Amino acid sequence: TQAQIGVTGLAVMGRNLARNLARNGFSVALHNRTPARTRSLVEEHGDEGVFVPAESVADFVAALERPRRIVIMVKAGGPTDAVIEELIPLLDEGDIVIDCGNAHFADTRRREAALREHGLHFVGAGVSGGEEGALLGPSIMPGGSKESYATLGPMFEKIAAQVDGTPCCVHVGPDGAGHFVKMVHNGIEYADMQLIAEAYHLLRDGLGASPKELAQIFAEWNSGDLESFLIEITAEVLGHVDAATGTAFVDVIVDQAEQKGTGRWTVQTALDLGVPVTGIAEATFARALSAHPEQRVAAQKALPGPGSVPQADRETFVDDVRKALYASKVVAYAQGYDQMAAASAEYGWDIDLGAMATIWRGGCIIRARFLDRIKESYEHERPESLLVAPYFRDAVAEGQESWRRIVAHAAKAGIPTPAFSSSLAYYDGLRTERLPASLIQGLRDFFGAHTYRRVDKEGTFHTMWSEDRREVEA
Ligand code: 6PG
Repeated sequence: TQAQIGVTGLAVMGRNLARNLARNGFSVALHNRTPARTRSLVEEHGDEGVFVPAESVADFVAALERPRRIVIMVKAGGPTDAVIEELIPLLDEGDIVIDCGNAHFADTRRREAALREHGLHFVGAGVSGGEEGALLGPSIMPGGSKESYATLGPMFEKIAAQVDGTPCCVHVGPDGAGHFVKMVHNGIEYADMQLIAEAYHLLRDGLGASPKELAQIFAEWNSGDLESFLIEITAEVLGHVDAATGTAFVDVIVDQAEQKGTGRWTVQTALDLGVPVTGIAEATFARALSAHPEQRVAAQKALPGPGSVPQADRETFVDDVRKALYASKVVAYAQGYDQMAAASAEYGWDIDLGAMATIWRGGCIIRARFLDRIKESYEHERPESLLVAPYFRDAVAEGQESWRRIVAHAAKAGIPTPAFSSSLAYYDGLRTERLPASLIQGLRDFFGAHTYRRVDKEGTFHTMWSEDRREVEA
């Protein structure tokens, strides 16, 4: 038999995607650089569906029906290019190569253009949901041509997570659009996790609550507006006790956060696009700060904290933190959505932002109840910012006093809350009628003749600062 789709790269993600495809009734050709992995997949899970194992790339390609659909699930960067190079001479016009790894969207754009020259389709597809998602239903964000989606889409929609009967998979847009959206998803994931971590820190240090008590609080929050996968697993992690020592698991983990780079890419790209993704940036930098133990040790010895720490009423404080977390989370999403909108305009992708909320409702790491509200916000209108969409505007307005109390408390208590604080500053920045940017423009004109615009007439002006301070039209 000829297989309907092939998967090459059978580490845990590729393996689980292949199994998911087979369990959904698709015949799957399998290939891995070291064939032992292919054999073990068939031995352990061969009864889940139709697998066609191949040892060589040539046999793998020959095992596929045409147009061929080949999923690559190898390390981003060089390894992906190597697999593509090997495949190209073996493929025929109209075949579809799909990269399901966490590739940089610029690489995806380059690869798509190169394969198009060969008459081949290249689809960069973001896949979120970790190991379990890949097996049981991930959120899938495929880019590439409409034509490729016509052949590939139905299969991906079938293996994706389903929410209310709607698959968490939609054609995002041409070339790198899918990987871009996955990158922003991960940026939001960083912000979401940082906000949760700050909430934990505030509650723990501000109230002296134990991890066990905190697990309880997060579990309660998970039955309200904050309901989400990340809040749910926060309760799990905080409630976990280290078997070796009998202490809270969170207390035996080294407090230095690592990253593989998608958050960094989100921030780098946002800088290029001129979109302020301050929540994501602070989350990425907070990981970097945590990972500098030498500086931290030096600072612990040298830098004083506040003399007295404000007291907090437990019930009010917990409620304030919850509201501050929610408001800051809305900001993180608003910023991520702005970034997708900016890239969509820049690259002509025409991304349907409401559809992105729809496919993030299930399967992915940032899945959350409030994505339904984002979806609805984009259904009715295209808000200038998610923050001004009526539902979120009202929700944030309801929480803003709590938000301010928490940021003020954190500053007074010396608890670092970069994401909470910067999100509030962003909120206030957006709503402020006259920003001090006017002074910045004045200074730029003073020292560098960089010019400015006036509030009262059209045009660009410069003041002759070093002469008679006459204003001239630039
Ligand atoms: C997902 C995850 C996945 C990856 C994380 C971890 O959507 O399933 O985002 O892609 O596990 O992004 O990234 P870091 O190692 O950078 O934290």
